[in-house]
Amino acid sequence: QSDTLPLPYRRDADCPFDPDPEMSRLRAHEPISRITINGGDVVWLVTRFDDGRDILGDRRFSSELTPLGIVLPEPGNRTLAEELQDQQPGTFIESDPPEHTRLRQMVAGEFSAQRMTQLRPRIEAIVEHHLDAMAAAGPPVDLVKEFALPVPSTVICEMLGVPKDFDFDFAGYTRIMTDVMSSLETLIPARNALRAGMRELVEHNRKQPGDNVLGRIIQEHGASVTDQELVGIGNLLLVAGHETTANMLGIGTLALLRHPEQLALLRDDPHVVERAVDELVRYVSIPNHGEIRTATADVTVNGTLIRDGEQVLVAIPSANRDESRFPDPDRLDFTREPRTHLAYGHGVHYCVGVSLARLEMHLAFPALLRRFPELRLAVPFEDVSYRRSNVTYGVHSLPVAW
Ligand code: HEM
Repeated sequence: QSDTLPLPYRRDADCPFDPDPEMSRLRAHEPISRITINGGDVVWLVTRFDDGRDILGDRRFSSELTPLGIVLPEPGNRTLAEELQDQQPGTFIESDPPEHTRLRQMVAGEFSAQRMTQLRPRIEAIVEHHLDAMAAAGPPVDLVKEFALPVPSTVICEMLGVPKDFDFDFAGYTRIMTDVMSSLETLIPARNALRAGMRELVEHNRKQPGDNVLGRIIQEHGASVTDQELVGIGNLLLVAGHETTANMLGIGTLALLRHPEQLALLRDDPHVVERAVDELVRYVSIPNHGEIRTATADVTVNGTLIRDGEQVLVAIPSANRDESRFPDPDRLDFTREPRTHLAYGHGVHYCVGVSLARLEMHLAFPALLRRFPELRLAVPFEDVSYRRSNVTYGVHSLPVAW
């Protein structure tokens, strides 16, 4: 392993929105390189946009053989990596076609343009409700606790028919499960509790299918989908549906506060909103380390032979700063020519919830900035702490005032 590098990841000393500076050296000189993760696994690190997109779009690279795709930068938590191999049926982000196709098709309609049009007024009301609560609670308030986390959490809970009074700390369990530094003693109970909570919801909908995602799957596919699969589908949507958008709203707001001229554009020009949100998503790239896949055949990618059984990590934050695709890539620029990036993935696993994520952010960012035109950080920028060891990058909290 002497010729492998450790996994480059974002560190305290660097700009918190940028990938590790080592990534730009690798893009220029060693775009597909050998690194060590999980305290011993040697994998290929792919840092350029084109190579990353090719791999994510290539069916010879399997997600099923790479469960959860957790990347552990520190040695020492191997048992955690092994424990996480225990797959929950239905979690289609960790499956390959045709199984993946069968499961994904059951939920794809829930994110259609028509469904988003129906959801829009309800999301607007949820955003306003939490802005009111923020105004009543502060200043100062923790934006993550009062706004970034509850908005997408409420939306996905309503979609899944989670009753308001249901005792289910799914956000707490998610926090533990997606932190690679969690101990097994906390991780296993959190995972079991998440599954148990969803099992209750599934059983409830089996008896009496509700007007929600689970109820509709049961009505349409009831005989061909098992309860175990429904638990996996439900929790995949619940986890992916709240923690991603929550982190984008949190660290996205911080990026806006650090770029006041871009903030003003997003706040004042409704025509800029879609572009601005997409640029923020590219710039911050919350899939912290990227996506991991296993080759199921010998594949040559841009001149490098990746052998059957070897793993690759597509470094999304690096690909999204690739200067050959995005001119002046380290600049947050809402007027730049839009180009597809990899923050929502690519290929068959391309984010199924992208329309929902976009709608939530299109509504939440401008509403926040208009309600609090004087929004500012309530602590020194240097004191903000980042989710460096989490699968999804972001801020732990964001104290703001106005
Ligand atoms: C897949 C990013 C919001 C549900 C993915 C993938 C990425 C991603 C990178 C691909 C994973 C892979 O290739 O292994 C994001 C970002 C979001 C976001 C950056 C917000 C800014 C959401 C929301 C939902 C969601 C709101 C709603 C439920 C999913 C699901 C998958 C997925 C279910 C798996 C798709 C599949 O395997 O076919 N997302 N996501 N995501 N996302 Fe999102």
